[in-house]
Amino acid sequence: MMIELRKLSDLKLYVSEAKNKGLSIGFVPTMGFLHDGHMSLIKLSNINSDLTIASIYVNPSQFNDLEDFQNYPKDEDRDIEILQNNNCDAVFIPDQYEIESLSKVVIDFKGLDELMEGRFRPGHFNGLVEVVYRLFCAVTPDKAFFGEKDYQQLQIIQNLVDELKMPIKIIGGPILREPSGLAMSSRNSRLSATHRVNAGFIYDVLRSFKPQDRKLAEQILADSGFELEYLESFTFGESKRLFVAGILDGVRLIDNVKIN
Ligand code: PAJ
Repeated sequence: MMIELRKLSDLKLYVSEAKNKGLSIGFVPTMGFLHDGHMSLIKLSNINSDLTIASIYVNPSQFNDLEDFQNYPKDEDRDIEILQNNNCDAVFIPDQYEIESLSKVVIDFKGLDELMEGRFRPGHFNGLVEVVYRLFCAVTPDKAFFGEKDYQQLQIIQNLVDELKMPIKIIGGPILREPSGLAMSSRNSRLSATHRVNAGFIYDVLRSFKPQDRKLAEQILADSGFELEYLESFTFGESKRLFVAGILDGVRLIDNVKIN
């Protein structure tokens, strides 16, 4: 049976008992409305840790758009069932009061918050670091798992851990996609059925992109109703990737692919 933890005190007890037994802890933070992308991280954690703890918390401070926060999909009962079916050991579901009782931190983003998501979502990465730091302090995992779908987020979390010398290994997992090619996301549930099945064009554009044909790529996106925010390449360490973000059918979507 998966354990449900709602209070920090219960989480602390669970974690200290696990550590006393010498068990390693893998952590998968989420905002719920779970899909196979989240479950791929639970599976990765199960392979790499003795115990897997997931969290579900829709963090208000990382939303730059109030409407997006208010419309964020939720289904806690279904999430709990999905986690249980995927052999997650425990889920932490705090309320805002529990989270805000934890202290905050200020880090140097080294400019990472000024590009792409940082540019189009002012304050987003401050809110992200705030909540992930708090969750890390509460869960004290050995390893934490993040999806490459939010590649810039993954880099910022790595930077957080490096800067504060937190003894947590950050592990990235590959992007899971719907049959159309659309990157899985909790927000996809807000797309109309037609938009959702046709949304594979975003991934198609990323995969076939050639810098000399940028105008054509932008035209394909626009013709499909995608309001482009950015389409740009960036190199994080050794990995060069092409990133896209924009709005389709009122829903903000992001995606990226590795460039060779
Ligand atoms: P959320 O969007 O729920 O995503 C939770 C984790 O699942 C993140 O690490 C994200 O990158 C990963 N994920 C989402 N879609 C994926 C996909 N299609 N394939 C693989 N992994 C995917 O990201 C957040 O929540 C929040 O910012 C959080 C880290 C929980 C902090 O509030």
